[in-house]
Amino acid sequence: MRSGDADAARAGLTPGARDPIQLSERWLGHVADSVRAIVRPRSMVWRCISDRTALVTGAARRIGRAFSLGLADAGVNVVVHTFQSTAEGQALCAELETRGVKAWPLAADLADASAISTVVARARDLAGPLDVLINNASLFEADTIEGLCYEAVERHLRINAWAPLVLSREFAHQTERGHIINLLDTKLDSGDPGHVSYLLSKHLLAALTRMLALECAPRISVNAVAPGLILPPPGQDMDYLERLSRSVPLQRVGSPQDVVQAALFLLRSEFVTGQVIHVDGGAHLGAPRYS
Ligand SMILES: NC(=O)c1ccc[n+]([C@@H]2O[C@H](COP(=O)([O-])OP(=O)(O)OC[C@H]3O[C@@H](n4cnc5c(N)ncnc54)[C@H](OP(=O)(O)O)[C@@H]3O)[C@@H](O)[C@H]2O)c1
Repeated sequence: MRSGDADAARAGLTPGARDPIQLSERWLGHVADSVRAIVRPRSMVWRCISDRTALVTGAARRIGRAFSLGLADAGVNVVVHTFQSTAEGQALCAELETRGVKAWPLAADLADASAISTVVARARDLAGPLDVLINNASLFEADTIEGLCYEAVERHLRINAWAPLVLSREFAHQTERGHIINLLDTKLDSGDPGHVSYLLSKHLLAALTRMLALECAPRISVNAVAPGLILPPPGQDMDYLERLSRSVPLQRVGSPQDVVQAALFLLRSEFVTGQVIHVDGGAHLGAPRYS
């Protein structure tokens, strides 16, 4: 159990602290976590996720960055995996540590099969046992059925499906109890003829989510979040997403924080596995396809 001072520090009750309501809620949460940790064994306190350690892939930018910040605000230490954004990853680690958690940068190319197989061991060497794996890193290149080539399919499969599978396997070997969250895409339901390789790889990841949920039970839960319109793809801006959002039932664009909140719900759940939470304003229900 942490001391009161350490709790206050983790809660961000230091000069420069931001939202006082959020911070006092967080401090109360840490106190409640500490009390529960005394009266209940570790395996029963998953709802309190502070003091856990997460590996987040593609963690330095965009939705991955939001995961890192959201986990840190929940008291979770983060191994910040990056590929090309190494400087951003290091800066993010420094920022996470100002929020009272530990953070470690780790660079690896998830297209490289031998690199993938060492990522969990390297993360564990840095941070100790991992409790959470978030398979967020992704390749998103445009192609069509007509122009499809095997190399593009293979590239997407490696990064978007094979890497999550190997990381999940290695993660499961080194933890007694944990959570895996895979990032899917609402377009698995609605379709996207302009990103065929990407979508194929995410279909495989969806199948793996179900298979791994069975394989890893009862020690580890495996779930997925399927975002919809959250951040614009390269070369587009928020106006582009706003235009597309007219065809979404809730008629708006989501935020990275919406995705993070769904993941935090899954991490706090002790009886949910093999699930997909769509964070997409209802797009998966069959609204007109994005053009
Ligand atoms: N953005 C959305 O609205 C949206 C919608 C539906 C689904 N999603 C899913 O949500 C997740 C996050 O979305 P996002 O838009 O934030 O993702 P993103 O920007 O497309 O990619 C996330 C990170 O993946 C990493 N990555 C790419 N190639 C890699 C490689 N060879 N090895 C290791 N890492 C590699 C990159 O890390 P570096 O920067 O370090 O190179 C990148 O920052 C993805 O799985 C995506 O499919 C997002």
